Amino acid sequence: MNKPSILIARAVFPEVIARLQQHFEVEQNDSDEPLSRDQLLARLQGKAGVFTTGGERIDAALLAACPQLRICANMAVGYNNFDLPAMTAAKVLGTNTPDVLTETTADFGFALLMATARRLTESEHFLRAGQWTKWSYDLFAGAEVHGSTLGILGMGRIGQGIARRGAHGFGMNVIYHNRSRLTPELEQECKARYVGKEELLREADHLVLVLPYSPESHHAIGAAELAQMKPTATLVNVARGGIVDDVALAKALRERRIAAAGLDVFEGEPKVHPDLLTVPNVVLTPHIASGTVKTRLAMANLAADNLIGYLVHGKPVTPLNPEAVGS
Ligand code: DGY
Repeated sequence: MNKPSILIARAVFPEVIARLQQHFEVEQNDSDEPLSRDQLLARLQGKAGVFTTGGERIDAALLAACPQLRICANMAVGYNNFDLPAMTAAKVLGTNTPDVLTETTADFGFALLMATARRLTESEHFLRAGQWTKWSYDLFAGAEVHGSTLGILGMGRIGQGIARRGAHGFGMNVIYHNRSRLTPELEQECKARYVGKEELLREADHLVLVLPYSPESHHAIGAAELAQMKPTATLVNVARGGIVDDVALAKALRERRIAAAGLDVFEGEPKVHPDLLTVPNVVLTPHIASGTVKTRLAMANLAADNLIGYLVHGKPVTPLNPEAVGS
């Protein structure tokens, strides 16, 4: 029997490609450069599945041009590159990679919070530039982390992981805002108190963003929200670019409207707004929150499991729109 054909849209672990080759005719973009829209369309012709990595836009126009496509397996928990209603209408399954990255991403969120509050990169640049000539009482004095108030906007699995680290590891007072409130059991486990968004902005010493990107969360943090935060507060974004208005944030940082920010994600990444590159009080990382070898391998394997599960056995592991295909 002919094996189904799939496209792997970006370079991934060779062992995962080898696994997929056991089940599929595999075409692979091994250049590690993202495919252009036209290249993606051309290379998807005749493919039943595609292994995506979060940047490939799957929408109605693409689906109409690729009628043989049955599944798009994202190697990411976020799936704002998928137009899920259009996929459901076209009976194309979307899958993502939840759970396997939760703790790793929460670790990174906390690392970014610490680096931001304690001015790690700013002080390292100063040292490397040979500017460290003497001890001073206020040299890179930052914001306290332990015992301070940790605010979390978006309280899914990763938000809960960050809350647990803050509450149990650093004795932080945790407050959160989310579309829906956690169960009392989960609130107790995370030692987190539900508050309105305004109270969250007003009270947090460190605000961490972990909400999914959608038209509703676009610029959830803009000039008006930044103006409500404490001037001593820090802001961390490990969610998605576009949730923060980067121009407004750069201005707030430059004017010290807030103390500092830590950003792993950016509007229009991998481009970074030039204003953010010139303000000193921001820690910038290139979308690596889930980036440990073990976790990235687990994510790639889960995306592969979904392709094999659905196209070979009719049963995906982590479907986003099972109603599309009745699985
Ligand atoms: C995700 O999984 O959504 C992360 O942002 C990694 O791409």
